[in-house]
Amino acid sequence: MTVAVELDDVHVSLAGSHVLQGVTFTVPTGGVTALLGRNGVGKTTTLRAIMGLVTHTGTVRVLGHDTRGLAVHRVARLGVGYVPEDRDV
Ligand SMILES: Nc1ncnc2c1ncn2[C@@H]1O[C@H](COP(=O)(O)OP(=O)(O)O)[C@@H](O)[C@H]1O
Ligand SMILES: [Mg+2]
Repeated sequence: MTVAVELDDVHVSLAGSHVLQGVTFTVPTGGVTALLGRNGVGKTTTLRAIMGLVTHTGTVRVLGHDTRGLAVHRVARLGVGYVPEDRDV
């Protein structure tokens, strides 16, 4: 299995709330992966952490590249397309 995206023990705090608490999963290439959950559980924050739009601790890897310190456009260049839920493209 080739891994497209890998999160390991990812934590994000927003405005004093510990929103993501140790998120860990892998997304294989060559398929479709869905992230499901009720409103407010942290789906969008997880995607924003992958893109580098929020500060995180833990590890995010895209095709084996650790994204720590990468600008958002560099993460996009690794092959991640992100469609925001609002119109703030
Ligand atoms: N900018 C922010 N400042 C403070 N809290 C936030 C912010 N963005 C999201 N949150 C909170 O983080 C939690 C997860 O939000 P979010 O990732 O948008 O959930 P989902 O996409 O699963 O509905 C919610 O409790 C939300 O209120
Ligand atoms: Mg959302």
